[in-house]
Amino acid sequence: GYDASPYLPGEDDLRALSEAAAGCRGCPLYRDATRTVFGEGDPGARVVLVGEQPGDQEDRRGHPFVGPAGGVLTRALEEAGIDRTRAYVTNAVKHFKFTAQDRGKKRIHKPPTLREMAACRPWLAAELRVLRPDVVVALGATAGKALLGPSFRVTKERGVLLPFPPTGDGAGAWEGAFAPEEALLLATIHPSAVLRVQDREAMYAGLVADLRVAAGALR
Ligand code: URA
Ligand code: SF4
Repeated sequence: GYDASPYLPGEDDLRALSEAAAGCRGCPLYRDATRTVFGEGDPGARVVLVGEQPGDQEDRRGHPFVGPAGGVLTRALEEAGIDRTRAYVTNAVKHFKFTAQDRGKKRIHKPPTLREMAACRPWLAAELRVLRPDVVVALGATAGKALLGPSFRVTKERGVLLPFPPTGDGAGAWEGAFAPEEALLLATIHPSAVLRVQDREAMYAGLVADLRVAAGALR
């Protein structure tokens, strides 16, 4: 089956992880994407932000959250009192998944499957093992499922501090890597959702309000 584990380096440090991830072929997503987009940020970060997967811009430029959704995220973090330069930003899946339109001119984002999320999870687990953050922020449903298990629903569980690793059906994936309830997890909407709705103001305000809860846990 799909699995990134054989590609993980022997040592757990961010540089070694990022270099090894560049050669990952743990699932088919590496084939059509330009490159692996690994997590980046402050190695001493107390908060780790987890998105879904790199988008078109991220795939071209090689850095997480540098496109339109990244703009929303950076602004919302600042408004919530979280300094992005002191955080670590990554994704549940490290390659861009898309379908080509207009004879390949447009690349439309496609959500990763649960299999692809599970295949890529060893990279996310390794990042969290090295960073040992106090707070993990799941940005959207994919990140929530990757971190808490497939039954996670963002509409039901957003905006409140949850134990991480989780205690329910998502616990197995983190066994051994973390002490029980070692960190807190806050789930919120994906920043790109703000760009897709009519009422951007309300959606954005909700994102900021959730991020403020995460900021409060860092004090
Ligand atoms: N959306 C994500 O989930 N991650 C990125 O890095 C960019 C857009
Ligand atoms: Fe490896 Fe993840 Fe890329 Fe799949 S998406 S090839 S598991 S880095």
